[in-house]
Amino acid sequence: MRQHVNPLSKHFNEIERIPSSIEMFDNPRLNLHLDIGSAAGEFLFDLALENTNWNYLGIEIRERLVKTAKLKVREKEIKNLYFLFGNAHNILNDVQGKSIINNTKSISFNFPDPWFKKRHSKRRIIQPEFINILSSSLQKGSLIFVKTDVKDLFDYMEYTILRSFNFKIIDKRNFNYCKSFNPNKVKTNRENYAIMNQLDIFKGIYIKV
Ligand SMILES: C[S@@+](CC[C@H](N)C(=O)[O-])C[C@H]1O[C@@H](n2cnc3c(N)ncnc32)[C@H](O)[C@@H]1O
Repeated sequence: MRQHVNPLSKHFNEIERIPSSIEMFDNPRLNLHLDIGSAAGEFLFDLALENTNWNYLGIEIRERLVKTAKLKVREKEIKNLYFLFGNAHNILNDVQGKSIINNTKSISFNFPDPWFKKRHSKRRIIQPEFINILSSSLQKGSLIFVKTDVKDLFDYMEYTILRSFNFKIIDKRNFNYCKSFNPNKVKTNRENYAIMNQLDIFKGIYIKV
């Protein structure tokens, strides 16, 4: 399977129909956590098992991974987990996508981008326009969690998020904000790889003000 796909390819301009929250979840009233670049979804499967009081939605641009994740959700009969295929930017910029953001209480970007080189920077998921989409529809108090093992990418993501002025950094040691729900408790596949290879991991938490 190809590791990376170009999110700017015309292939991703069209998005599939986004189901309503009642179609996606058994109890659409639960708080929603969104994972951008969810790959095969292991992180969300772990979270969904650990904390059943939330709904979880993964968005992933590699279709095969989404198909596998969806199959697993059905097999395991998990009612608070759903996956969408496509470029997260285009999905969340859709009218239905904006209503998803509106109901989202926290978002994770875990090791989101393979696009380290400057000449590929337009392919990164965190862009000023994307942060504007989030910032205009997220409710106050919603959290964004970022993790990566590439320092330059971390600096770029933090700079882009804070540039919108609608987000503030949360001191990483202050877990009061995340008392009821802390997605950082669960390690992602890429995080386990980074730990195994003794790579530094850079983490940021931001709150919508
Ligand atoms: C390095 S992997 C990390 C996967 C997982 N989050 C982890 O931590 O193990 C980044 C994932 O983000 C996905 N991705 C990159 N850009 C995306 C976009 N614009 N929309 C949706 N998914 C995207 C990639 O296909 C890939 O699966």
